[in-house]
Amino acid sequence: MIFRQLFDPSSSTFTYLLGEAPSRSAVIVDPVREHAHRDLGLIEELGLKLAYILETHVHADHITGANALKRVTGAQTAVSQHCGASGFDRVLDEGDIIEFGRQSLLVIATPGHTPGSSCFLWHDRLLTGDTLLIGGCGRTDFQQGDAGTLYDSITGRIFTLPEDTLVYPGHDYSGRRVSTIAEEKATNPRLAGKTRDQFIDIMANLDLPMPGKIGEAVSANLRGGNTDG
Ligand SMILES: [Fe+2]
Repeated sequence: MIFRQLFDPSSSTFTYLLGEAPSRSAVIVDPVREHAHRDLGLIEELGLKLAYILETHVHADHITGANALKRVTGAQTAVSQHCGASGFDRVLDEGDIIEFGRQSLLVIATPGHTPGSSCFLWHDRLLTGDTLLIGGCGRTDFQQGDAGTLYDSITGRIFTLPEDTLVYPGHDYSGRRVSTIAEEKATNPRLAGKTRDQFIDIMANLDLPMPGKIGEAVSANLRGGNTDG
């Protein structure tokens, strides 16, 4: 089993590379366009064949590397069908299985941060995108976000997974890299002991600035990272 967590300091985005040792088949999750060369170099160094390029959702803070990676590797791109995106090779929904080599990755639909937000479960680790962050969660004040829906996705779906499931988020802004379902249930300040109404109230009062690249990023990512037009 091959697992790499990569980081983009400018947007604090994590990219994940998952591979199977015998077949060398691999998938990459949430690549960042500016790091396509780094990612391709690592794929080559590890002798991997990229089968899929997956997005946890349409990002607002960086442009996906999907298009650049697909051009070189021929891998299939995929995102939730509820993202309203075009130009992807495959659309995903709740319960879909992504197969690479003999590996299976389960798609869990977790709307809330965006309608098409998904988590990917692979063995004991959950790639949560922006649905659940370490000590936080994705914002819900743009891209058709909905705080109540996010609360339901996290508490009704994600928090029902085994407590020792490792939580690998799509971002961290404080140098943390991994958590667990048990830790987030017990300590996440937006969720631990909070009712749905309290969570909605917290999310309505975050007062966050808009991401600098939001216009450019969302429009490119809705086309699979194609910035040509
Ligand atoms: Fe996001």
